[in-house]
Amino acid sequence: MARETGLVPRPGILEISPYVGGEAKVAGTERPIRLASNESALGPSGKAMAAYRALTNEIHRYPDGNAQQLREALGQSHGLDPARIVCGAGSDELIALLLRCYAGPGDEVLYSRHGFLMYPINALAAGATPIAAPERELTTNVDALLARVNERTRVVFIANPNNPTGTYLGAQEVARLHAGLPPSVLLAIDAAYAEFVNRNDYEPGIALVDRAENVVMLRTFSKIYALAGLRLGWAYCPPAVADVLNRVRSPFNVSAAAQAAGVAAVEDVEALNQARAHNERWLPWFSERLAALGIPLIPSVANFVLARFPDDPLSNADSAFAFLQSRGILTRKMAAYGLPQHLRITIGTGPEMETVAAALAEFIPAR
Ligand SMILES: Cc1ncc(COP(=O)(O)O)c(C=O)c1O
Repeated sequence: MARETGLVPRPGILEISPYVGGEAKVAGTERPIRLASNESALGPSGKAMAAYRALTNEIHRYPDGNAQQLREALGQSHGLDPARIVCGAGSDELIALLLRCYAGPGDEVLYSRHGFLMYPINALAAGATPIAAPERELTTNVDALLARVNERTRVVFIANPNNPTGTYLGAQEVARLHAGLPPSVLLAIDAAYAEFVNRNDYEPGIALVDRAENVVMLRTFSKIYALAGLRLGWAYCPPAVADVLNRVRSPFNVSAAAQAAGVAAVEDVEALNQARAHNERWLPWFSERLAALGIPLIPSVANFVLARFPDDPLSNADSAFAFLQSRGILTRKMAAYGLPQHLRITIGTGPEMETVAAALAEFIPAR
């Protein structure tokens, strides 16, 4: 029988507020417009779906524990050494693994105030202390991060571009951040939305990984490749970091379905370009519509926007969320990120964006 003092999880675990994903259902609506989780508007590559289907008769087999073909396909398409690529069940798994491997009790993990929530969650899960650095205009602030580095700092995690703000740091700023870190601190650059960015000064992190021993870049198949349901991400690492991750990850952490669909998705450059072109058309279109409605937003380089609503209860973010939901439109509330006046809205299909813009136009004058 359990004693009164029974099971106690490791320190830090009970400080975690569980991650709450975007909602997927609206009561009474069969097909809601789902703009809450930044999944690519156009859906997966037809070739990826065919590769997934073709696996049906093989699912009694274990997957390739080394994801060899997938790592080779990634190496080929990005010009990287496959030996330095480690695949994971979503980049979420790689975030958790990195923090488990490089931070623990007594250590600090630095992240940006409105950075992706999985960084502080996984820092706490590893027993470490997450430290948030303030931002400038909802943008990662290199000076604020560097000012918080001390002898306990083990990992600095940035999302570039950042979710949920949609802002980014240029390559020079990321290099300046790295230059200010001691070699004993790992800089993890989470480039989940890299493919959407069309700015000349942006670099996802590959160049920095190539010339440093303490930088890792993370990527995902959940966003532009639209394979979120299969859970697939990858890390490009210095050889020593790849070695560490390969020791700790579970031997079959990436499913056969994810590997097969991932290979086909990487090779389907046309589908990638279409998804990119779609975002390049509808991100500015939607941003302009919001601006015309008087809804302020910070310029986004990803496939979502962070819209700020007024403070008064009739027209605030909560009532905008409820109004949109009543129209079958799902967006993401941002209170968990310390941004209660904002909603994050993913760029969906053209007709979806027209519907949301029209709904917001109704919501705004009605207030
Ligand atoms: C910045 C960032 N990193 C990582 C992830 C997690 O992606 P995955 O589905 O690969 O675990 C997300 C998903 O929202 C994200 O926004």
